[in-house]
Amino acid sequence: MFRPILVFDSGIGGLSVLSEIRSLLPGRDYVYLFDNARLPYGELQDEVLISGCVDLVVRLSRQIDAALVVIACNTASTLVLPALRAQLSIPVVGVVPAIKPAAQLSRVGEIGLLATPGTIKRDYTRQLIEDFAGDSQVHLFASSELVLLAERKMAGAPVNYEDLMKILAPIKETDLDVLVLGCTHFPMLKQEMRDCLGDKVSLLDSGKAIARRVDSLLPDNSMVTEKMGLLLGYHTTANIEPGLCERLELLGFSKLSYFPPAE
Ligand code: DGL
Repeated sequence: MFRPILVFDSGIGGLSVLSEIRSLLPGRDYVYLFDNARLPYGELQDEVLISGCVDLVVRLSRQIDAALVVIACNTASTLVLPALRAQLSIPVVGVVPAIKPAAQLSRVGEIGLLATPGTIKRDYTRQLIEDFAGDSQVHLFASSELVLLAERKMAGAPVNYEDLMKILAPIKETDLDVLVLGCTHFPMLKQEMRDCLGDKVSLLDSGKAIARRVDSLLPDNSMVTEKMGLLLGYHTTANIEPGLCERLELLGFSKLSYFPPAE
C-alpha cells in the first residue's frame, strides 16, 4: 500500500493541478483537502492564512501518513511554504506563477499576471518578476471574483460572460501576448477566457510543471501499477454546494469526513 499524496487548496482550484498529477501518476492514491470555510484566500490577512494552512496541512498529512503534500494554491504557496516545511519531514511542493516560461514565450516582451489580490501584492511575486522577467513589461491583474466564478462553474452554474468580460477588460487594453494564470482556479475557466481574449493571447499555468516535480520527488513511482490508485477522496472544512458534491462524485471522488479547522 502506497502512502497517499495530499493535495490542498481553498477550493476547486487545486483540482486543476491534481488532474495533471493524476495523468502522470495514475497509480497513486490521492486525498484532496478543500479549506472552503476560508475561501477566498486572496482576501485573507497573511498571519491568518499562514496559521490556518499550517494547522490543517500538518494535522491531515500526519493523520493519513501522506508521502508528499502539494499546496495547489498560489496564494498560499507564495507565503506558507517555509512555515510548513519547518514542521513536516515529507516533501512539500508549492505552486508559483509561471512567470519565467511566460517571459521566455512572449514575442512582444509584454506579459500579464492574473492572480488573486494576495498573490499580486506579495514580495515573493515581486521578486519572481524581478528575477525572471526583468526585461519584460509585466502587467498585474488581481481578481477574487474570478475565483468565485470558477467555483460556481464547478458547482454546475453557467458562466456569466458579461461578468467575465468586465473582469478581463483591463487585459484587453494591453498588448500582452502571454497571460500567466497565477491562481489554480483560473485554468477551470480557460475556454471561456479564450472566448473573451481571442487567440492572440497564450494562457499559461503551472499544472504540468508541478506534476513533473511531484513525479521526481517520489522515487517509488516505477513500482506503482495501473491497478493501484484506488483512493481518490476529499475532505472539506465546511459544507459544500450539492452541485459540487455531485460533480466530484462524477469525477470519481469519494467524500471523506469533515475536517474541522483548529478552534
Ligand atoms: N486557488 C488559489 C490560488 O491558486 C486561491 C484562490 C482563493 O481562495 O482566493 O491562488
